[in-house]
Amino acid sequence: MLNTEEQRVWLQDIEQRIIQKLDWVSDKSKNKIPYTTVNGVHDDRSVENPSDTHADGINWWTNGFWGGMMWQMYHNTGQEKYKAIANISEDKLDAGLQQYYGLHHDVGFMWLPTSVANYTLTKNPESRKRALHAANLLAGRYNPMGEFIRAWNDISGEDTRGWAIIDCMFNIPLLYWATEETEDPRFMQIALKHADTVMKTFVRPDGSVNHIVEFDPFTGDVVKSYGGQGYGEGSSWTRGQTWGLYGFMMSYIHTGKKEYLDTAKRIAHYFIANIPDNGIIPIDFRQPKEPTFEDSTAAAIAACGLIEISKAVELHEMDLYLKPALKLLKTLDEDRADWTTDCDCILKNGSAAYHAKEHHQSIIYGDYYFIEAIYKLKGTDLYFW
Ligand code: GLY
Repeated sequence: MLNTEEQRVWLQDIEQRIIQKLDWVSDKSKNKIPYTTVNGVHDDRSVENPSDTHADGINWWTNGFWGGMMWQMYHNTGQEKYKAIANISEDKLDAGLQQYYGLHHDVGFMWLPTSVANYTLTKNPESRKRALHAANLLAGRYNPMGEFIRAWNDISGEDTRGWAIIDCMFNIPLLYWATEETEDPRFMQIALKHADTVMKTFVRPDGSVNHIVEFDPFTGDVVKSYGGQGYGEGSSWTRGQTWGLYGFMMSYIHTGKKEYLDTAKRIAHYFIANIPDNGIIPIDFRQPKEPTFEDSTAAAIAACGLIEISKAVELHEMDLYLKPALKLLKTLDEDRADWTTDCDCILKNGSAAYHAKEHHQSIIYGDYYFIEAIYKLKGTDLYFW
């Protein structure tokens, strides 16, 4: 996939650095499910901590990524310890299925990188059962009048029965998987309806996407859009753009529907046109010049999506997508990665949301998608989306 010797040397080198880093970090954090780091040390979202302000406990939406990282490492190194650590995460998530409350559309983010990854590699029947359980929960959130999947449960003071969000494009692959696994078409029918609704109501004429669209939950009519985790209404939250970009590619990979590839390309063209010269991705492409908030996670996810598009297009179009992907990854490597033993994370300067209290922290899905992107370039990523 890479054209020059210099690029190939870089890829070999960065893979070695990932292997070296994950070797000791995985030992250190093997009993945790990390989200971020505190003074360089992974936190643990698998323990209920009453002093934490997050309310989701074990059902925190990012709790699948650590397991996903371990499966990518197992797949690429063959080291049994990674499989064992991934299994610890997956077992812990059972408490979430049992609790039920707190689970929402992000069951895809939670059980694709854990149970579906596990089942893909090992055919473990317990993993299949967990993933099917999660797929049924996701399918149960479908609103047939609006033809969308409801995103979150109620947020205090906010009625979210009609809310759909762009991030769900990463959850619906669980429905494609469930149909592929059971031959029951209902799951895929729901995924297709949702993707078609998102194509019509989220993607703007310039290729940018809304974060949240609210539908009337009784009539299905579009009510309004929200800026969500971006700067404001009508803005362009960069991670949301990447959920759309790579998300539509995922739908294309499962269905072969050309409209999904075309939509991924439209979002990609908008994204590429807005990459700043220095390769650092802001939290929102339409945020004010100051403060200069950025989000390394958006860069890593975009790189994954762009590499997938480059694999799906004609040879003469490949570089259009591959070049910016390499620029994003090289910038992350040179300017935003910590390869030392000072931090359990790889990427610095992730940001959950423009209006969040904290910015520029390590976030587990930044590291996950960075690793996935590097293995995609090598052609050896484990694809479970
Ligand atoms: N899926 C929520 C986020 O991207 O922060």
